[in-house]
Formats: sequence, C-alpha cells, structure tokens
Amino acid sequence: MSFLYKADPVRGAEWARLFAAKAPDIPFHIWPDTGKADRVRYLAAWVPPPDMARQFPNLELFFSTGAGIDQFDLAALPPELPVVRMAEPGVVAGMVEYATMAVLALHRDLPAYIRQQREGLWAAHRVYPASKRRVSVLGLGVLGCAVLGQLRTLGFQLAGWSRTRRQLDGVACYAGQEELPAMLASTDILVCLLPLTPETRGILDSTLFQHLPRGASLVHVGRGAHLDHQALLNALETGWLSGAVVDVTEPEPLPTGHPFWAHPKILLTPHIASMTQPETAVEQVLDNIRRHEAGEPLIGLVDRSRGY
Ligand code: NDP
Ligand code: OXD
Repeated sequence: MSFLYKADPVRGAEWARLFAAKAPDIPFHIWPDTGKADRVRYLAAWVPPPDMARQFPNLELFFSTGAGIDQFDLAALPPELPVVRMAEPGVVAGMVEYATMAVLALHRDLPAYIRQQREGLWAAHRVYPASKRRVSVLGLGVLGCAVLGQLRTLGFQLAGWSRTRRQLDGVACYAGQEELPAMLASTDILVCLLPLTPETRGILDSTLFQHLPRGASLVHVGRGAHLDHQALLNALETGWLSGAVVDVTEPEPLPTGHPFWAHPKILLTPHIASMTQPETAVEQVLDNIRRHEAGEPLIGLVDRSRGY
C-alpha cells in the first residue's frame, strides 16, 4: 500500500516529512516517482494524472489538494472512486484572514486612500461603524460560515446565501435563485465564496450587480469563472460599484495589460486568499484514511452529483 502526491513539490516535501513522522507504515511518493503503480491506494493531487484508473488500478481514495475541485474534470475519474477535498483547518483559517482583511479594506475605504496617497491628496471620508455596514456572503459552506463567524465578532450586519436552506446565528439566511435578489438589495459588501459549477459559472454579472445598491463593493475569492470581467469594469466605471478586491480570475495568471492590473478601484491578488497547510492537511488526510479503513464517513467527501 502506498500514497502518491502530485502537486506543488515544495509543499510535497513537507507532506513527505509529516508522513514519515506520523504514518511511517505508509510509503510516500512524490510525482513523477510513483513507486510500484499497483501499490498506490491513495492519491493527492491538484490535477489528477490522465488515465488514472488504468495507471493505478488499486486506487481507493482521491484527495484534491485544494478546497475546490473545479480544476479537474470530475466525470473523467472512475465513477466509484471517492473524491475528498481539503476542508482542513489551515485553509479555513487562511480564508478567514483574507476575507476579513478584504471586507475591512472596503469598509474603511482603503482603495480610495491608496489612490489619494499616490495623488498626494489628504482628504478624510466619513467613517461608518461596522454595525451600519451590511456584508453578505454567497456560499454558506465550510469557508463561508467560518468567514461569517469572524465578521460577526466585528459587529457587521450579516447575510448569506446557499442552494439549500441554512440557519446561522446572527446571519439572515437566503436560499435559492429566487431569494438572491432580496439579499443583494440589502448588501453593501458582497463576498463570493461559491464553488464553480455549471449553475454558478458567470454568476457575478451585470444583472447581479444591478441588484446591489449603488455604491456597493465586491470581494471575489471563489473562482475566476464566476466573474464577468467586463461587467465589473462597467459597474466600476459608472460608479454603480465603488470598489472590488479580486483574488481569482479567468484566466490565471491574468494577462499582461489586462485592465484589472492598474485599475484604481480594484485591489488584485494572485489567487492566494488561502492555501492548504501541510501540517493540518496531512492530519486530515490520515484521519480520512483511518475513517475509510473503518468504514466511517469521510471529511470533505465531494458529492459528485452536485459537483462540489
Ligand atoms: P462548500 O462546498 O463547503 O460550500 C459551498 C457553498 O456554496 C454551500 O453553502 C452551497 O450550498 C453553496 N452553493 C453551491 N452551489 C450553489 C448554488 N447554485 N446556489 C447557491 N448556493 C450554492 O465549499 P467551501 O466553503 O469549502 O469552498 C467554497 C469555494 O471557495 C471553493 O469551492 C473554492 O472555489 C473557493 N476557494 C478559494 C480559495 C482561494 O484561495 N481563493 C481557497 C479555497 C477555496 P449548500 O449549503 O446548499 O450546499
Ligand atoms: C483551493 C484554492 O481550492 O487554493 O484550495 O483555491
């Protein structure tokens, strides 16, 4: 029995050290060294190798090294193979930090002050308390809920949207397409933390922006293909939206000369809102292997029929 890792080799070396310390009985290989292919039972990858079923006929679990799984074609994997994503504490903590930073940056007009500093302009804008700011999160999953939990401690008015009905303390919860416009209408800062699926692709478009009140702003940390770039540029140009923090784009990297790079109302980061952390990821992977062997439910198991 062995474990094969196929993702960022630097973090792979950390995984190898952690496996050697915590699970010395499981031989660990880093791609392209696969060891004996018929011994590979567990595979962790950002994008799985092609023809996985033929190459590794005894595979029992596939781990995505990311929290999202849209970077590969689920339908191309063997239909019975369980796919497990990283819903591990390290990636959650990173997203809580980033989303909180971005919401606070928009709440406290940071993009405007960065512009003003470049122009040598000393001009104060009215400071509103968090209790007067309405922050809504698209996606009430592992990450959306954790982010709302942190924002709650800061006193924002909170709302959240999911596919199925959720209940969260201190959060006005909305569900389904028909309830989305009502939430948007009472949102000052919108955070996108949705998975990318056929239903959510392109969701951040001009229609959605029109449902927000004039002057609202956006934090986009989901996936690049959620966002219609031209719709965001138009909304910023007309002043309908006042600013955006964008961490994910389609394509990545963003091409040289793309208008987002130098846009005065956009804070752009290169898909770093959060990252799987080897220490906590390996713990969760080993726990899942133990659960798999004991026939217990897996943490982060993807529902392949929903696509997330
Ligand atoms: P989860 O699967 O735990 O949660 C997804 C949430 O989105 C659920 O609440 C789900 O609803 C909701 N949702 C899915 N489809 C729809 C829909 N059609 N309409 C309304 N709501 C919908 O995901 P996570 O919270 O763990 O992660 C979310 C995403 O964050 C990832 O898929 C990835 O794209 C992104 N991400 C980005 C990172 C970055 O660095 N920028 C890092 C990590 C993740 P329901 O509750 O009803 O199922
Ligand atoms: C992830 C990511 O999905 O880094 O984990 O985007």
